[in-house]
Amino acid sequence: MRSAFRVTAVVGLLCGLVSAVAHAQRPVEEQGRALAEEHCSRCHAIGLEDQSQLPSAPPLRELPKRYPVENLAEAFAEGIVTAHPAMPQFTFEPPQIAALLSYIDSLEKK
Ligand code: HEC
Repeated sequence: MRSAFRVTAVVGLLCGLVSAVAHAQRPVEEQGRALAEEHCSRCHAIGLEDQSQLPSAPPLRELPKRYPVENLAEAFAEGIVTAHPAMPQFTFEPPQIAALLSYIDSLEKK
């Protein structure tokens, strides 16, 4: 069961983490980009104009158009694997999730 409370808690936690990580030396979006390059780029396009290596994988820049970033946060926290079996399971720590989402979010705004 997904409760609104839980979603709020996750988002609140991530917002805290985003601001915590944003004050680190390396910009959080850069960390997210590095994570995306390492873990996602062999299937998903991770930049502003590149094509996905695996045509069925949507470019990461499209994700915020499909899902509010908060929903993505919850999906990552629960294990993104459930939605699509073609994709390997990832277990990310909350700071990594925050960094990835921050990067994905930044793509949409560019
Ligand atoms: C081995 C290939 C592969 C890798 C690596 C991969 N993905 Fe995917 N991903 C896919 C495919 C294929 C789909 C589309 C599946 C579908 O539409 O059912 C997808 C869909 C998604 C979706 C949309 C889910 C939905 O329900 O529509 C998200 C979000 C996503 N990927 C995030 C990521 C992130 C973030 C990474 C890196 C951490 C990543 N993926 C790595 C293959 C991959």
